[in-house]
Order: sequence, then C-alpha cells, then structure tokens
Amino acid sequence: MSVNSLKLDKLPALDRRVSIAPMMDRTDRHDRYFLRLISPSVLLYTEMITTGAILRGDRERFLKFDASEHPVALQLGGADAGDLAQCAEIAAEYGYDEVNLNVGCPSDRVQNARFGACLMKEPEVVAAGVKAMRQAVDLPVTVKSRIGVDDQDSWDDFVRFIETVAAKGCDTFIIHARKAWLHGLSPKENREIPPLSYDKVYRLKQRYPEFSITINGGVTACNEVSQHLAHVDGVMIGRAAYENP
Ligand SMILES: Cc1cc2nc3c(=O)[nH]c(=O)nc-3n(C[C@H](O)[C@H](O)[C@H](O)COP(=O)(O)O)c2cc1C
Repeated sequence: MSVNSLKLDKLPALDRRVSIAPMMDRTDRHDRYFLRLISPSVLLYTEMITTGAILRGDRERFLKFDASEHPVALQLGGADAGDLAQCAEIAAEYGYDEVNLNVGCPSDRVQNARFGACLMKEPEVVAAGVKAMRQAVDLPVTVKSRIGVDDQDSWDDFVRFIETVAAKGCDTFIIHARKAWLHGLSPKENREIPPLSYDKVYRLKQRYPEFSITINGGVTACNEVSQHLAHVDGVMIGRAAYENP
C-alpha cells in the first residue's frame, strides 16, 4: 500500500518532539510529501502563507496538501486579528492539524506589511491575533518567534512577550534561539550572524514548565536533538532537513 493511499480515520496526536521548520520556497507540499516518506511522525510545517494570499489569492494552490502529510501545521503571516481568525477557520476546513503564527521573519517585505519578527515589539497585537484564532477554531494555535529583536532583546523583554501572548491562551511556543536585527542584515544573515542562545530557551522552559517549548536554530545531528530534548519539549529542524534529509 502506498503512503499516498493511506486514509487515516483518526489522525495521530501531535507529537512535537521533532518538527521540520517552515521554510519559504522549501517546505512546499512536494518537499513535505517527500519528508513524510522518510519519517512517519515528524511534525511538518508549511511555508509561511500570508493572510492576504489566503483571503484574496489562489487559496487552493496555497493550501491544498496530501493526506499523507499529516500531521501538518499551517504557518500564517499576518497581524490583523480578523484576517487571522478567518484564515484559521479556513485552515481547519482544509484539515490542518495546527495553526502557527510567524513572529520570526525579519524580511523587509514582511516588515513593511507589519508582521513577522517586528511583531515581537508589539506583543499585544500577537496576543489579539492568538485570541481571535483560538476563538475561531479548536486547532492548536502556536507562535514561532525569536528570542528578541533589535535592542529589545533582554530577558525581561522576552518574558513580557511570552507572558502577553500566553495570557490570551497560547501555550505552545517555537523559539528560534537567536535575535533578529530588523535593519542592516538580510534574512539569510539573520539566520547566521546573531549568535544562538539555547540557554535562554532552556530558561524559558524552566520558568514555564506548563508551556510546550520547542527550540529551533542550528540543529544538524540526531545527538543534538536528544541533548535539547533533555531541556525542552521539542526540536525544530530547518536547513539541515532540506539540505541533508
Ligand atoms: C530558505 C528559508 C526559508 C525560511 N522561511 C521561513 C518561513 O516561511 N517562516 C518561518 O517562520 N521561518 C522561516 N525560515 C526560518 C526557519 O524556519 C528556521 O527558523 C531557521 O532556518 C533556523 O533553523 P535552522 O538553523 O534549523 O535552519 C526560513 C529559513 C530558510 C533557510
């Protein structure tokens, strides 16, 4: 029986121990299908899809996926609570297993539209989006962020962001363990130049043991996954999963 023909009556529960990062122009449905052939259980994420693309674009092209991809999360890019709620409903209709909000992308295009990593400076906007999505759907609503942006990168800033968003019901955070500079670095440089600070993510889990915390950034080997899992709930792998699946 091919993987493609598997019709799952009951979808497997989300196992967050290992996940594959959302990556624009990488984790499209073809890549995800391929990854699922390698791993039956790893949690997959779509590329970031903007709310505008879903509400006003070729929705079917952006959202359609194969049943074998489950468990698969839709990552949204956007900031307007009403749009995010509508898109979360659409995600549920399409059968996604989770809706994730991108609060980590530093590209100029995304900043101009006032979403992505720059939203770390506006935790109330993220919290309002989370609240609206949670009211709209029963799916898990999660947030992927950095540990800080620009000069707003202290431990207190980070905690304020997490607490503000958690207050509206988000209990699952995926943290790319480096800050982003919103000006002066390209998105690629922002994935390489700011140093990784795994300790900050471990410390977050210690402070909030009740939250599910997934760490992301620079993981390239299986032994690193087990090392991180001694401190946090999940490990998200990006480039290594694409370059060396
Ligand atoms: C080509 C490329 C595209 C990316 N696109 C997204 C995206 O759409 N949404 C997102 O949250 N992060 C995106 N990222 C960041 C990754 O999800 C991840 O946070 C980052 O690559 C660090 O993890 P890694 O060191 O395991 O690659 C992208 C990264 C790459 C290399």
